[in-house]
Amino acid sequence: MSRTRALFGGLAATACLLTAAHAEETDPAAIVAGQFAAGGNHAGVRASGAKGVCLKGSFAPASGAATLSKAPHFAKEVPVTARFSMGGSNPKVSDKVKPVTRGLSVRMSGEAGDMVFVTISAPVFSAKTPAQLLEFVRVRAPGPDGKPDAEKVKAFAAANPETTRQAAWLNARPVPASFAGVDYWAVHAYTLTNAGGETKTARLKFVAADKAGLSDDELKAKPDSFYADELKERLAKGPAKFDLVAVLGQPGDTTSDPTVAWPEDERKAETLGTLSITAIEPDATCDARTFDPVVDLPEGVAGPSDDPMFAIRSPAYAVSVSRRAN
Ligand code: HEM
Repeated sequence: MSRTRALFGGLAATACLLTAAHAEETDPAAIVAGQFAAGGNHAGVRASGAKGVCLKGSFAPASGAATLSKAPHFAKEVPVTARFSMGGSNPKVSDKVKPVTRGLSVRMSGEAGDMVFVTISAPVFSAKTPAQLLEFVRVRAPGPDGKPDAEKVKAFAAANPETTRQAAWLNARPVPASFAGVDYWAVHAYTLTNAGGETKTARLKFVAADKAGLSDDELKAKPDSFYADELKERLAKGPAKFDLVAVLGQPGDTTSDPTVAWPEDERKAETLGTLSITAIEPDATCDARTFDPVVDLPEGVAGPSDDPMFAIRSPAYAVSVSRRAN
């Protein structure tokens, strides 16, 4: 082969590799495969939130909610299907682990459509782009010893410091004593539109009525799975309540980067209503479909168009559903 042909052949091969790598980086299926691998490739579970409890309840809007959003769910009380979960695809993860997000997914049913929020116990996500998330999950793939390569994880964190903010936030706080004892953030910046066409940018969070964390001694005394039993006992006495709060953005607050928290203490906040979790539902109620936070939004509530982590959630969740159904 001539030198020129070899050179062109090499360049073409490199171009192919780059194209393949680029396509793969933005492929939600690759991210989901990475999520499953990082948790040990368990069958029949979610790519994240694999361990969890399905629930039912209701959402009662606050009297001022309609001044912010025309969503019908902010006009009258609606029934709710919800799910508490532990982050990640390992269904055997211990409830005692600190740097794992607890999740709260909420489907508020409506006559003309549902309103879904899929939220976590931290104000920030662990990656700002799909490509970064793919690498984040890939470096966590367990090796032959069943553990990720600590050096690789360290090097990735050093090169991508914003991906460490979520774990730092969780590590600085106690392990929640209950799924119902911690606040949950929808993380992305939403746009709320009222009937008059006025818009406001807001980050939404469910604020627990009964916040509680465990001391180190209390944590030591717990078994690996205690949230489900605690919830059963709690709900036998009455509903677990959360206020849905809109933290209102100011010019300059990022809408595109879910690894950056807004300074909530310096922002105005409005309560949109109260979520009451009343009872445990059979898993089948939650397993039949996914909580899709992108597609299932009514008029009056919109996700961010400039946050690349928002739109990709819908196809990623669909891949996970099809895989766990097989
Ligand atoms: C702020 C960003 C995010 C938050 C707050 C979040 C939170 C959650 C929670 C709480 C669950 C459990 C859902 C359930 O109980 O059924 C979940 C599931 C899942 N998440 Fe996310 N997530 C975020 C971003 C992403 C992104 C960017 C991806 C991938 C590109 C992703 C992939 C998944 C997948 C595949 C599932 C499993 C869905 C299913 O099988 O039903 N998430 N997420």
